[in-house]
Amino acid sequence: MSDAPIQDPELLDKVTNLAKRRGFIFQSAEIYGGFRSTYDYGPLGVNMLRNVKNAWWQVMVQQRMDVVGIDAAILGPPAVWAASGHLATFTDPLVDCRKCKERWREDKINGVCPNCGSTEFTEARAFNLMFKTQAGPVEGEGATAYLRPETAQGMFTNFANVLATSRKKPPFGIAQVGKSFRNEITPGNFVFRTREFEQMELEFFVPPAEADTWYRYWIDLRYNWYLNLGIAKDFLRLHEHAKEDLSHYSRGTTDVEFLYPWGWDELEGIANRGDYDLTQHAQASGVSLDYFDQAENERYTPYVIEPAAGATRAMMAFLLSAYHEDEVEGETRVVLRLDWRLAPYQVAVLPLSKKPELEGVSQKVLEVLAPYFTCDYDVTQSIGKRYRRQDEIGTPFCITVDFDTLEDGAVTVRDRDTTEQTRVKIEDLLGDIRARTGQQ
Ligand code: GAP
Repeated sequence: MSDAPIQDPELLDKVTNLAKRRGFIFQSAEIYGGFRSTYDYGPLGVNMLRNVKNAWWQVMVQQRMDVVGIDAAILGPPAVWAASGHLATFTDPLVDCRKCKERWREDKINGVCPNCGSTEFTEARAFNLMFKTQAGPVEGEGATAYLRPETAQGMFTNFANVLATSRKKPPFGIAQVGKSFRNEITPGNFVFRTREFEQMELEFFVPPAEADTWYRYWIDLRYNWYLNLGIAKDFLRLHEHAKEDLSHYSRGTTDVEFLYPWGWDELEGIANRGDYDLTQHAQASGVSLDYFDQAENERYTPYVIEPAAGATRAMMAFLLSAYHEDEVEGETRVVLRLDWRLAPYQVAVLPLSKKPELEGVSQKVLEVLAPYFTCDYDVTQSIGKRYRRQDEIGTPFCITVDFDTLEDGAVTVRDRDTTEQTRVKIEDLLGDIRARTGQQ
């Protein structure tokens, strides 16, 4: 794209290093040399990932009366994955380089081995991406289980249960956030593509005649969710899949794409799955998954519109888009301009010194704010260094408790983005921070 914004070529490295150095994301099993393409979320990462998932849940479930949530099992029997089509078709084309023997996903390498440059490959074969395991101590056919490669199937297999217990009727949705597993041939680009990741998916069941309207509705809503949480318009676009590129279940798919350091790539997919899943599971299980509309005296299989996002991938996009370097008082600073809802800490309380009087007042400040905001507390190093440390992890507000506080009962509130400092009475502090976050 010629009109794409220019990016720092080192951005991916900078964010990956920051993520490790400050405790967002660690290589898994690092003390044993690391386990390829799995990651652990550290103290900051776990806060931020939870915030991403909460921001999704709030808009997709909590604030809607037409969506309910579930939390389904990760392990599933082969019957589910046979009916869903995953056993037969959830594959990527695997090739071996004839020269260096490395294995690649054929559709990602443009005919040239990224390792040795050779153009000689074996015939592509279909490699199933599901992790297969065994449930229980006895091996054999009946013990086979799969780790789910998407959260979606839990919503389809529970469709009748939810319909019967929730008193919802189409158009309505079932949402889920949780881990999924894919034995990706070439994981990479940090947490963009990993073998274990988290998804945030909604299956929205609609009368077939309304499917196209809801498909457009959800594309629009999902695109705006990213904008609202701070990703700049220039870094987001929609990409509608060509008919020949659609997944086995899809009648139409549009991706929300983000401009990663390596170019435009998928952030989330919104698909019109038609009646594929409910029909497949009804046929395979023998349980009717129709909806009977009493008002119209009509029975039909709902169509499904599915906005399917990655929580870990979204977190990475938010980190990349928040990373900035600017100049403050003649020094370069790294600042994560994260939306306050996503920042690992929203407030840092910083007593100017370790004097017990100041620490005592700081504890009182924490008692006021911690029930409403995730707070950090830091007493070491100079105040300037502490501000930089908080800027680097995206903390929107620093509150400094100094010796004047003991006299006037006020603290200094420093804004991460403007670096502006304002004196605020402790009794007004909660209201002040709430106002700054647009909560009143
Ligand atoms: N139920 C439909 C479905 O799973 P998908 O496009 O395969 O659709 C949805 O996955 C989202 O899940 C993707 O847009 C991406 O954000 C995330 N995702 C998929 N595979 C991933 C992987 N290996 N690592 C990290 N995130 C992944």
